[in-house]
Amino acid sequence: MVPITVSLMTGPARINFHHPHLLGIEGLSASEIETLLDLGDHYVELNRRDEPAEPLLANRTQINLFFENSTRTRMSFELAGKQLGARVINMVAEASSIKKGETLLDTAMTLNALHPDVLVLRHRDSGASALLAQKMDCAVVNAGDGSHEHPTQALLDALTIRRRRGDLDGQVIAICGDILHSRVARSNIHLLVTMGVRVRLIAPPTLLPPFIERMGVEVFHDMHAGLKGCDVVMMLRLQTERMSGSFVPSAREYFHYYGLDYAKLAAAKEDALVMHPGPMNRGVEIDTDLADDINRSVIREQVEIGVAIRMACLDVLCRERGKARKQNTEDAA
Ligand code: NCD
Repeated sequence: MVPITVSLMTGPARINFHHPHLLGIEGLSASEIETLLDLGDHYVELNRRDEPAEPLLANRTQINLFFENSTRTRMSFELAGKQLGARVINMVAEASSIKKGETLLDTAMTLNALHPDVLVLRHRDSGASALLAQKMDCAVVNAGDGSHEHPTQALLDALTIRRRRGDLDGQVIAICGDILHSRVARSNIHLLVTMGVRVRLIAPPTLLPPFIERMGVEVFHDMHAGLKGCDVVMMLRLQTERMSGSFVPSAREYFHYYGLDYAKLAAAKEDALVMHPGPMNRGVEIDTDLADDINRSVIREQVEIGVAIRMACLDVLCRERGKARKQNTEDAA
């Protein structure tokens, strides 16, 4: 279901987003988040009708710089930039001078000299995009920094839920699994709590950060208790690449207690949605049939909506840059 809060033909009438960068969800207001979701809705409709979007990024350069593996996020940022008319350059860290020992800051300074308008960065260190935002002259979009934030994933998750449910306010949403290492969980918690959602976290104690309740969430260690009456169940991947040592006894035992299957899902509402940001470990955090069940799982829809949300983010950031440029030219005149 699409909430008709905006004209889907023209997009939202009022854009309330005036930041030079998108580094995280923390600190964004409900109305700023709503602007991005409304604009995302507009782009979902355009993309579904196969209609061209206004080339707001024509003559603009977007560099995608990914230091960690990615399928969905990198491809959808590339597609989003191209749909808006940008020159998109994908820089593969493996094939660049980074392999020869160049530091992140030196790479940034080199890229800065190419005068990009937008830099989309994924990096293993928390805070990497905030650091580059201070050093570069372009808009920086955080496409995932360590276990800190992944703002566009939270926005696409929220839009997927809003389109299915009509509203976020009052929903009960469970986020389950490896919360400790997950930037997706952190960005989602910030967004959902800001939008009036009741957020429950379900995880073994070893996979929860200390004092996480302070973020305004309820914590459960048992799937049945935590899923009771939920509207949406978000599953997370076990992020073994960020683990030093053993956080769970075995994948098999993890699935037994925390993997989502039909039996555990029965505790949630009858029509509860199942989500996963991907990539999935089938049979570890989610049952393979349930992941593919189009009556319950919206995992593929999340990927589709990801392109539209990234178009919305590039759109608002380039509008802001356009304004800043105009101001600079007027000041210089
Ligand atoms: C997530 C990420 O990279 O943080 N994936 C994604 O962006 N689609 C989650 C994950 O890797 O488990």
